[in-house]
Amino acid sequence: MAASRSWPIGALRGLSLSVKRPQRPARFWALCLGVLTSTLVIALLLMGSPHLPNLPSLSAPPTHAHRPDGPVVVDGMRVWEPPVMDPLVHGQRVSDAIKKKPTYPLLPFPPSPMANPPPDDRQRPWLGAVICSAWDVKRRMLIRYTWMKMFAGVPMDQRFVISNPGRAWTDVIRQENRTFGDMIVLDHLPEDDFTANTVKTIEFYRWLVEKSPRKYEFVSKMDTDLFVNARAMYDRQIAPRLARKFQADPARNASAAAVNETVHVPDYESRDAAALTATVNRTLIGQFYYDGYHNTSFPHGAIYTVTWDMVELLPRLQDEFHVIAGEDVTMAWLLMKGKQKVTMAILSESEKFEFDNRDRRPGDDSAWARNGTDTTSRSHALFGTDVLAVHQLKRDDDWLRVAECFDENGIKAMPPDPMNPLPENDDKPRYPRPFFTFIPDDFWEVDRDGAMLCNGVWKLEPGMGRDMKKTGD
Ligand SMILES: *[C@@H]1O[C@H](CO)[C@@H](O)[C@H](O)[C@H]1NC(C)=O
Ligand SMILES: *[C@@H]1O[C@H](CO)[C@@H](O)[C@H](O)[C@H]1NC(C)=O
Ligand SMILES: *[C@@H]1O[C@H](CO)[C@@H](O)[C@H](O)[C@H]1NC(C)=O
Ligand SMILES: *[C@@H]1O[C@H](CO)[C@@H](O)[C@H](O)[C@H]1NC(C)=O
Ligand SMILES: *[C@@H]1O[C@H](CO)[C@@H](O)[C@H](O)[C@H]1NC(C)=O
Ligand SMILES: *[C@@H]1O[C@H](CO)[C@@H](O)[C@H](O)[C@H]1NC(C)=O
Repeated sequence: MAASRSWPIGALRGLSLSVKRPQRPARFWALCLGVLTSTLVIALLLMGSPHLPNLPSLSAPPTHAHRPDGPVVVDGMRVWEPPVMDPLVHGQRVSDAIKKKPTYPLLPFPPSPMANPPPDDRQRPWLGAVICSAWDVKRRMLIRYTWMKMFAGVPMDQRFVISNPGRAWTDVIRQENRTFGDMIVLDHLPEDDFTANTVKTIEFYRWLVEKSPRKYEFVSKMDTDLFVNARAMYDRQIAPRLARKFQADPARNASAAAVNETVHVPDYESRDAAALTATVNRTLIGQFYYDGYHNTSFPHGAIYTVTWDMVELLPRLQDEFHVIAGEDVTMAWLLMKGKQKVTMAILSESEKFEFDNRDRRPGDDSAWARNGTDTTSRSHALFGTDVLAVHQLKRDDDWLRVAECFDENGIKAMPPDPMNPLPENDDKPRYPRPFFTFIPDDFWEVDRDGAMLCNGVWKLEPGMGRDMKKTGD
């Protein structure tokens, strides 16, 4: 375990393993030259792009990510390996970025508990954690005073996860935690873009396993530009996967009826009631993404929710394989190297989507979608009652418009569309296709139990097709 603390060294070791291969034919080196050139070009392209690797058109031809000798098949199932390559993280090559030292000393963050914690003995089977830069105080306040406050009644612990804030910011952050009590500080990590986008989530999982005062059944990781309808997320995605774990107490016989109670688990269940326990393991609730540059499919990082056994598994795999890549690619590659499969419960595009300002109603200041919106697109405005998570709210005004459409019960009833005429210069929404539609055909296999398997790692729930619909629907 101690070795895991010095992750950059471990990672370098891991990298030298995967990048330097002995005795390659000349063809390989020619390929490498091509790769370096195309990597550079793509890196330059990415650096100029505000949407970093989100554009499928930019994530074009990773010939280097391909093993020339074709796939290895054992017992009818393909053996999946991460591509052999030097990954890019926000335009930086990992082999370069990893050499950089933190620019400030990583002093231990002094414990700074909340000054007047409110009495609360409710069970919290769910942790919602926003991965956040230490310095982003303003965004934290917006989040606290919108969804966190609205959904304070949901049995969820709400936290922000920051890295080491550095000496200058330490007093401010201490004060912030004394006031709100919602900060997790990973003081062994420097606060920088590269760390935030590579190891931070897994190091957060490690913190949970080793230091968290509570164990959770489900842990959601979220971005700061994501608004979550925590009420509906709990009711529709978490509660149906929870059951009470009864002790060997005849008064609380966990007969089959208990299974059905899970659908409406009361929120104010005190801690001495039978514990709410996940009915699934090795499960992730999220949405697919496909990154052509790294030729890998993984859950979109804006929000995903994992079971506690995944929280335990990923740092263990990291200690073994030392993968340093973009954080979501990292998860896929770790699971691939560890030969682990994970059930992926899918959020649809009407449940989780990118917010598209252009899809708002003309002449109306709300976040509601215009008539004729396409909620099968990955990108639209708010429509109907499905909405669980809205991403890409980088602008504060978009954030506040979206927040307006919710209250403590979840999404409000959608007001009728006034059907104002479209302005002449209307910038029409593009309704791009969902990310999963970009996953290459040969990523999909049928697993031995009949479930669809993507990239050797992600198993759909039984009966789900690769079009993310229940077969027969
Ligand atoms: C991506 O990976 C798949 C599976 O390993 C492989 O079949 C395919 O050729 C790769 N594509 C590219 C463009 O490298
Ligand atoms: C923040 O406050 C909470 C609640 O008192 C406490 O559990 C936690 O340890 C504090 N975090 C830090 C980094 O001191
Ligand atoms: C629970 O109740 C069922 C019938 O309701 C009974 O068959 C079972 O033995 C009981 N189990 C325990 C552990 O008491
Ligand atoms: C649980 O609910 C399902 C669906 O409503 C029903 O078919 C089943 O009989 C119920 N089981 C018990 C033990 O109540
Ligand atoms: C999940 O795994 C844990 C051990 O990691 C085990 O205690 C628990 O019973 C499992 N839950 C289910 C639903 O299989
Ligand atoms: C949207 O427009 C169509 C006709 O263009 C109309 O039939 C429908 O009722 C409108 N829907 C709403 C919600 O206003």
